[in-house]
Amino acid sequence: MIIAVFKEKRVAENRVSMTPTVAANLLKMGFEVWVENGAGASAHFTDESYISVGASIKPFNELKSADVYIQINVPTTEILNELPDNKIWISNVYHLSNTNLVEQLKAKKWSVFSLDAIPRISRAQSMDVLSSQANLAGYRAVIEGAYHLDKIFPLLMTAAGTVTPAKVLIFGVGVAGLQAIATAKRLGAVVEATDVRPETKEQVQSLGGKFIEVKGVEVGSEGGYAKEASDEYRKAQREAVNKSLAQADLVITTALVPGKKAPILIDDEQLALMKNGSIIVDMASEQGGNCAQTKANEIYVHNGVKIIGSVNLPSSLSSNASELFARNIWELLKLVGPKGNIEFNLEDEIVQGCLIAHQS
Ligand code: NAI
Repeated sequence: MIIAVFKEKRVAENRVSMTPTVAANLLKMGFEVWVENGAGASAHFTDESYISVGASIKPFNELKSADVYIQINVPTTEILNELPDNKIWISNVYHLSNTNLVEQLKAKKWSVFSLDAIPRISRAQSMDVLSSQANLAGYRAVIEGAYHLDKIFPLLMTAAGTVTPAKVLIFGVGVAGLQAIATAKRLGAVVEATDVRPETKEQVQSLGGKFIEVKGVEVGSEGGYAKEASDEYRKAQREAVNKSLAQADLVITTALVPGKKAPILIDDEQLALMKNGSIIVDMASEQGGNCAQTKANEIYVHNGVKIIGSVNLPSSLSSNASELFARNIWELLKLVGPKGNIEFNLEDEIVQGCLIAHQS
């Protein structure tokens, strides 16, 4: 089968879904690989680097006749209008939130592997784009926060006096939150973190962080994901975190509930408690934000607190992010097309989870 790799159409997207290394692996498996010209440029993969492994570079219009289309982001209207029916599509689709898009994909009779819907089971870890990208995003959020903070992270003892370490507070200890804890610790900060899932306590502690427990109310989880927290939990959480929030220099929020708007974890009253000069990096900003004052893709100062509405942090680490994304895709293709020809094993749990539209 012929795989076409598109240049991402999303504004300010620097990543690409295919690297020359993975393209070479796919060629060995029996696929042909066509890449849109300039697709890898922002991630520093030149057209020549794809050609050197045996892939072909083509303009968008010439990619249409391929069998399989691959990109990172959801298909745009342009893509849907321009490309023919009865193809195989692989990208993030976020089908739970993008229900209209799913209808359009079905109308085109496309078979769609939605990468974000790959089940969180051990066998699928190597294909998990949410994890590979969130991991990098968690790192980048700390670097972003450190850049904006007018303080250093580590304890510093000098002849002119002692500088105390920065205090970092993290809401949400999933993949991004854990990497944020590890990164902030490596830089020398004192780190605290909280999550609705009690099992994260041990994970936080194993990274040298302090877990802020919300006692007396349970939220529960489903398939490893958090459920939506009740008002009662929210009240208890406020009481548990407010002291740490008032002392924090950098707050990183990552809390998400699949298919729902991000929960507000820092409201206006809580913002008023925060120190002048402190920073919030809101990684949930694209889903509405965990802070009441977050504006997605903007840096906004509210009563002396700088709120960074982070959008698509992995794009700012485009080289590593593309490498990991491409390897995730390769792992999926090893499962569904080991001989260069994609087949649909509807009995397979991974295929069942991520094949969100199918016309064979
Ligand atoms: P996510 O991005 O959906 O959410 C981030 C974090 O926010 C989660 O830890 C969640 O519990 C927390 N959260 C939600 N509402 C909250 C609230 N009101 N207050 C505080 N925290 C709140 O999570 P992510 O990173 O996608 O991970 C989800 C789960 O999947 C985790 O249990 C993770 O360990 C698991 N996982 C399993 C994998 C596998 O087995 N293949 C791979 C990656 C993750």
